[in-house]
Amino acid sequence: MKTAALLAHPAGHSGSPAMHNAAFKALGMDAHYEAWDVPPEELEDALQRLREPNILGANVSLPHKHAVLDGADAVQEDARTIGAANVLVKRDGQLEARNSDAVGFLRSLTEAGVVARDAHAVVLGAGGAAHAVVHALRRAGARQVDIINRTASKTDALVARVGGRKAGWESLDPREVNVWVNTTTVGMNGAAGEGESPIPEGLLQAAPTHATVVDIVYAPRVTPLLAAARSAGLNTVDGTGMLVHQGAVAFEWWTGKEAPVAVMREALDAFLEGAS
Ligand code: ATR
Repeated sequence: MKTAALLAHPAGHSGSPAMHNAAFKALGMDAHYEAWDVPPEELEDALQRLREPNILGANVSLPHKHAVLDGADAVQEDARTIGAANVLVKRDGQLEARNSDAVGFLRSLTEAGVVARDAHAVVLGAGGAAHAVVHALRRAGARQVDIINRTASKTDALVARVGGRKAGWESLDPREVNVWVNTTTVGMNGAAGEGESPIPEGLLQAAPTHATVVDIVYAPRVTPLLAAARSAGLNTVDGTGMLVHQGAVAFEWWTGKEAPVAVMREALDAFLEGAS
């Protein structure tokens, strides 16, 4: 039996075991996925365990997403640029740190019929998820990526690392924007901005109906932002899109097989349903 693992601390809240175990089962693979609770001082030991032959690969979550860039044997270019890894891939017993958030995000756009090439995108937030999203949009050929964040210094750091343009609400014409992406925690259950939308009221009413609003927050499933976008008649992508597809990309890297995305989505939906 082969094993894939999640390295996180705490490790209890992830939907990844449900998604990946369903995928292994659907493909009839003799493999399973387990969550390892790894405090920072045990990361090196955990990485050594992953180098053993029975391990397929791993996911990496907080607080290890940056530390694995140093602890792994090699680092993929996307992960280096974004400054964080969420996947470890085995190559001849060695560990390569990779980032599947950027390509997973792009796949979720494609699935929703959104073309990133030549798009004008507005990204809200400048944290870890924003780094992956901005990098993905730029690499996919977006014409303009505007970043709006509460803390200006974090926007400057993001722009210096992955590109894009610092912007503000006052300089934005919503009629010109094709894709809006929320990467902030505003609207998330249990966060300070619970029940709120990160986009000022009225702005989406002026957006053309072919515009798409993406929220990477997945709890609740329909955030106040997505509800506002839907009532303005816009296309929407909820937070399970990126979550499923970053998992599907990791699965393909570990196994070399096409990921059963529908099965993974169903397992994630059931997990989130049970968690809410
Ligand atoms: P992640 O790594 O998941 O992207 P993060 O690094 O904690 O998470 O980033 C959270 C983002 O949400 C940040 O951009 C944060 O803004 P600041 O850079 O100003 O901290 C943004 N955010 C969180 N709460 C917010 C709020 N109430 N209003 C506006 N932005 C908020």
